Amino acid sequence: MTEPLRLGIAGLGTVGVGVVKIVRRHAEMLERRCGRPVVITAVSARDANKDRGVALSGYAWESDPVALAKRDDIDVFVELMGGHEGPAKDATEAALATGKNVVSANKALLAIHGQALAEQAEAAGRVIRFEAAVAGGIPVIKSLTEGLAGNEITRVMGVMNGTCNYILTRMEATGQGYNTLFEECARLGYLEADPNLDVGGIDAGHKLALLSSIAFGNKPAFDDVVLQGIQRIELEDIRHAADMGYRIKLLGVAQRTARGLEQRMTPCLVPANSPLGQLEGGTNMVVIEGDAVEQVVLRGPGAGEGPTASAVAGDICDLARGFRISTFGQPATSLQDLPAAQTGLPAPYYLRLGLQDKPGALAKVASALGDAGVSIDRMRQYGHSEPTAPVLIVTHKCTSTMLEAALESLASTDVVDSDPVALRIEEL
Ligand code: NAP
Ligand code: HSE
Repeated sequence: MTEPLRLGIAGLGTVGVGVVKIVRRHAEMLERRCGRPVVITAVSARDANKDRGVALSGYAWESDPVALAKRDDIDVFVELMGGHEGPAKDATEAALATGKNVVSANKALLAIHGQALAEQAEAAGRVIRFEAAVAGGIPVIKSLTEGLAGNEITRVMGVMNGTCNYILTRMEATGQGYNTLFEECARLGYLEADPNLDVGGIDAGHKLALLSSIAFGNKPAFDDVVLQGIQRIELEDIRHAADMGYRIKLLGVAQRTARGLEQRMTPCLVPANSPLGQLEGGTNMVVIEGDAVEQVVLRGPGAGEGPTASAVAGDICDLARGFRISTFGQPATSLQDLPAAQTGLPAPYYLRLGLQDKPGALAKVASALGDAGVSIDRMRQYGHSEPTAPVLIVTHKCTSTMLEAALESLASTDVVDSDPVALRIEEL
C-alpha cells in the first residue's frame, strides 16, 4: 500500500492548525508507521488571508467546505470547524455521499446527528472517526471500541470539560468566586464561543452521549442526558464540600440500570481522595468499568492545539493503515433505542438553602423533606446573613425523583428564599 492518503482539512483554527503541523512535522514518521505517505491536498477556512502560523501555500484552497468535501483528489475529509448544523453537517454529509471517510473533532454534530451520519457512512461503506471529540488527547474512544471490546461495560464516568474543572479547582485554590474565574477563563481563551456550552454542561453532555452510545450500544441520545451547569456553585459550597472530605466536579455518569439508561452530567460531590476528586485544572479524566477488566482510569489533556490534534492524527493513521471500525463500535443499524432512566440510582444529596430566620422555619423544611420521603442525615445553620440564614443539609440516600418532589414542596413553603442548590454526593 504505497498510494498516499490524501486529506482535505476544513477548519484551520486551534485544532486544524495543530493537525497541519503534525502532518508536516512528522511526515516521515507517519509514512513509516502507516506504510504510506499522509498528505494534505486541500484546506478550507473562512478567511483566506489570515496568517495562521503555518505554511499553507502548497495546498489547494477552498472557501466552501462542501466543495472541499466533494473534491475527487481527497480520500479523507477532516472536519474541524465545529457547530452541529450548517457547514459542518453539510460538508460531512457531502463527504460521505462522495465516498470519503471522515475524521471529526465535532462532539456537538455527532451527539446530535451521529446516528444518521453513521448510517449514511455505513451504507456507503465508509467510516467516521471522532477520537478528538471526547476528552481531547485521551484515547478514550479507542479504549472503549478496541481495547475494552471484550467487556460488558457497567459504568462510564468522568470529568470531560476542562474549563469547568479549571473554574472549580481555582475557586478552591484561590478563594475567588465563580464570576471572577469565569472572566479569567474568557481572558485565557478557554471558553467556547458560546460559554454556556462549557459552564452549562452541554459540551460535556455531548461527550457523555457519545461514550454512552459506544459503551451501551444505544443510539446517541443527547436529549436524554440530564444536564446541570456549574453556574450556581459558590465558594461556600466548595468549602462545605471540603469540610466533609469531598470536592465538587462537573461529573458525567452513564450506566445501564434496572430503571433504564442513566446519563447525567451534573455537578457532584466526589471523595476528595478519589482519582476524580484529585483532578486539577483543565485536565480530563474518564473512568471505565467493565465486567472483566474492573476499572480503567484514563487521564490527560482534554483540549488545546497539540492534544486535540494528536487525537485527530491517530484517527488519520488508522485510516491510512486501512483499519475500519463502525462509528459507535457496532453497526449503526444495530444500535438500540434504550429507554432513559426516569430517575437515577439513590444517592445522598447536599442541599444549601436560604432560610428565613424565624420560628418554625426549620420545622417546615424538615416536614417538606419528610413528606417526600427524604430523610435528613446532617443539618447545620451556619450564619445569620440578613434576611435569610444559610442552611446546609445532607440527606440520606434518596432518588432524584424524591429529591425533586422535596424541592418542589420546599418552594411552596414561605420560609425558603432562593432556589436551593442541590448536589448529588457520588461515592465512587
Ligand atoms: P476554532 O479555533 O474556532 O476554528 C474553527 C475553524 O473553522 C476556523 O479556522 C474557521 O475559519 C473555520 N470555519 C468556521 N466556519 C467555517 C465555514 N463556514 N467555512 C469554512 N471554515 C469555517 O475551533 P477549534 O477550537 O479549532 O475547534 C474545531 C473543532 O474541534 C470543534 O468542533 C471543536 O468543538 C472541536 N474541539 C476543539 C478542541 C479545542 O481544544 N479547541 C478540543 C476538542 C474538540 P477562520 O479561521 O477563517 O475563521
Ligand atoms: N471546551 C472544552 C473544555 C474543550 O473546556 O473541555 C473542547 O472539548
